[in-house]
Amino acid sequence: MESRTRNLTDEALTQAARASFENAQSDRLRVILDSLVRHLHGFITDVELTEDEWLDGIEFLTETGRITDERRQEFILLSDVLGASMLVIGLNHRVEDTATESTVFGPFFVEGAPRFENGDDIAGGAPGEICVVNGRVLSPGGQPIDGARIDVWQADDAGKYDVQYDDLADARGRGHLFSNSEGRFWFQTVRPKPYPIPTNGPVGQLLRATRRSPMRPAHIHFGIAADAYETLTTHVFVADDPFLDTDAVFGVKESLIAPFVMSTDARCTLEFNFGLAQKRPQLPPSTVGPT
Ligand code: BEZ
Ligand code: FE
Repeated sequence: MESRTRNLTDEALTQAARASFENAQSDRLRVILDSLVRHLHGFITDVELTEDEWLDGIEFLTETGRITDERRQEFILLSDVLGASMLVIGLNHRVEDTATESTVFGPFFVEGAPRFENGDDIAGGAPGEICVVNGRVLSPGGQPIDGARIDVWQADDAGKYDVQYDDLADARGRGHLFSNSEGRFWFQTVRPKPYPIPTNGPVGQLLRATRRSPMRPAHIHFGIAADAYETLTTHVFVADDPFLDTDAVFGVKESLIAPFVMSTDARCTLEFNFGLAQKRPQLPPSTVGPT
């Protein structure tokens, strides 16, 4: 019988590796692995990867795994700086024009953040210039969505999230609240400032080696969930931020930039309408996992 894995030329090796996945447990898994092998072999051939470079790559990924734990997901950060996260988001959120665009989730969301009522101060003593946020949650037809859950999290005046301080016991600059019958929600907070993504791991090393800025433009994160609608994960970016065109994770969309306007009482105000998309039917899971 002809061997499928012996004495292979480079090209036959690629074909054999692709063929080795022909009996994958689902067609989708086979398609994904086939394309992965094709592109990985293509990349190795394209750059004529040396053995030292291949080992460096293995060491880089090993370190990415070593530094990852429940509090830190360096693989997601790597996906973010490679633009992969935004590519996946773009492919999976081709929704109605009325829907607010999605952007990266980031590593600073915390489950179980406190509940607030409309009008409350979510800053929790975070330093910064006081801001009032007025939002509205709307359906594709522009109707108000009552009872939508709005999760908010943000950095403070020093560009830091509460979880980045060692000495903070309580949530600061994060929480959740609900829209009223007009789809409105509002809260007081502080103006967020730009900040660097975590750079004390392999992703930071990559950014330094490639002379890339680690900075993200100032933003507030919003997660908005309501029955019968797709959950929206997005940010509102502060207009005029100096880092809007050099976001380390490619997350900025023009439609998400809004002015934080100074009012006469020395507070800033943000007004923003959030459009939700109708819920789509769930596709069956297809990738690796228990059968
Ligand atoms: C953030 O906005 O919190 C974030 C997003 C991606 C990487 C690092 C931070
Ligand atoms: Fe952020």
